[in-house]
Amino acid sequence: MKFERRVRVGIRLKLFGFLLPIAFLLVGSVTWTVTEVTKDTLRRDLLQRGAAISRVVALSAGHSLLANDPLGLDRLVSETKASDPDIAFVSIRDTSDIVVAHDRVTERGKPFRPVPPLLSRGTFGDTRADEVNRDGRRIIEYTSPISFAGRRVGIASLGLSMEGLATAQRSIQQRIFAAAAVILVAAFFGTMLLSSFITTPVKRLHQGVLSLAGSETFQPVAARSSDELGALTRNFNRMAEVNIAQKTALQKKAVQLEEAYISMVRVIAASLDARDPYTMGHSTRVARMACALGRCLEMDEAELSNLEREAIFHDIGKIQTPDDVLLKGERLSRAEEEQMKSHAVDGTEILRMAPFLQRYIPVVRAHHEWYNGEGYPDGIKGDEIPLHAQLIALADAFDAMTTDRPYRQALSTEEAIDEILQFRGTQFAPELADAFAKMMREMPPMDETVLKSMAL
Ligand SMILES: [Fe+2]
Repeated sequence: MKFERRVRVGIRLKLFGFLLPIAFLLVGSVTWTVTEVTKDTLRRDLLQRGAAISRVVALSAGHSLLANDPLGLDRLVSETKASDPDIAFVSIRDTSDIVVAHDRVTERGKPFRPVPPLLSRGTFGDTRADEVNRDGRRIIEYTSPISFAGRRVGIASLGLSMEGLATAQRSIQQRIFAAAAVILVAAFFGTMLLSSFITTPVKRLHQGVLSLAGSETFQPVAARSSDELGALTRNFNRMAEVNIAQKTALQKKAVQLEEAYISMVRVIAASLDARDPYTMGHSTRVARMACALGRCLEMDEAELSNLEREAIFHDIGKIQTPDDVLLKGERLSRAEEEQMKSHAVDGTEILRMAPFLQRYIPVVRAHHEWYNGEGYPDGIKGDEIPLHAQLIALADAFDAMTTDRPYRQALSTEEAIDEILQFRGTQFAPELADAFAKMMREMPPMDETVLKSMAL
């Protein structure tokens, strides 16, 4: 089963992509609302402040205006102007709209210059507020009637600059934006922290699944939390332990099954050797010699084990060869020879029946191939022939030559070695034939009794 090791878009990124815009949207909307409410409050404060000052001027001016006290009126306008830097002008005029007092002396005695209102800012009691453009400045102009003893005696006008309001609004806006920026940074890191908090256990689980898939042992995943993710992790650990136990049991069963198959084939191979008294113990002797040569070539134990099984199985196809061909006491006819040769292919068909034995097929099929390509069944040559098949071919040939046959006497070890060497470069790879000859000359003679018992 193939496990996906990498994910394109992780949960952390998804959470980040989902939570961060929400946080930004929330902070943005709160910032906008607070800014607008604050601006409105400041504007309302300014309007009320101006209206209050204008009314105070109108109330204070009544007596002086009626009593024709220009000094009192001048003091009133100059003190009012000085009381607040946002006041643009203060003017008092009589009922004929002639300015009788003004913070700018040059305006005194002149008719009041009305300007058209740009925007009405409402009324506060008897005071009206309009936004106007006077002398190139945007101001709020308040107009309050001056009454004394129930009689209207004049009008007080007061201009309040809007620059102060704008400055105050900018200042408060900057402070709100600074606070919003701090909250956004906190939201960014908070989102990262939250994503990490949620995804870390999921990542551990993912690593646990991968480690479970890729190894025989399992390291339990740490489960620190007591929430759903913690419970999921603990359940995963239990499931993994069960899985590992079942996997181990299955592997054990598989090995036992393979061993059972191999034992069965060993018995078949031994029975086969026993069909012909002349080949009794043949497979076992071939296996012994092939493995001895494998050791000379520094093969490891696992490879030698495979080689030994391949050698035991190499003639298993002969089970399909009829007795009158297999046990014929004289030279075989052409047709019988072909029948005999078919054992290499028949062997592969037998091994194909069991999945565990299929890995031995290439060597069993090729054990009669020749180095020069003149062998059978496929006519492959040189390095195309599996190395194990070449070792078995040497041992097979040697054992056939050193065993009595009905039609000839067994050769001695030295004679058989000479024969092998005569076929170096044709039937056998030269370096393998040389190694085999060297080994056989140094190997102690085999005990037939031991070999026969080994065969069974
Ligand atoms: Fe054979």
